[in-house]
Amino acid sequence: MHKVTFKGDDLTVEAETGANLRDVAQIEGASIPFGCEQGICGTCLITPIEGADNLSDIDDVEKDTLEAMGSDDGQRLACQCAVEGDVIVEGFL
Ligand code: FES
Repeated sequence: MHKVTFKGDDLTVEAETGANLRDVAQIEGASIPFGCEQGICGTCLITPIEGADNLSDIDDVEKDTLEAMGSDDGQRLACQCAVEGDVIVEGFL
């Protein structure tokens, strides 16, 4: 199990390897908003504060959306991230 911390919510929970960060956020009540849940709308933009390497690699859909949004380096879409280790993330409400 890995520790996932949602910084804005001051919430730390446990997640299995491969758990979708969207599922973890929704089940545990984190305040990251979601829309399409398919990596297209950009609603679930997050910044990994620690453990960015412990999230799954960016696929083409997520990459295209992040580029179209003009996101900062390192930002991710929570609905497209699988948990692969301990991570601290911050969302934007
Ligand atoms: S919910 Fe639309 S990109 Fe994640």
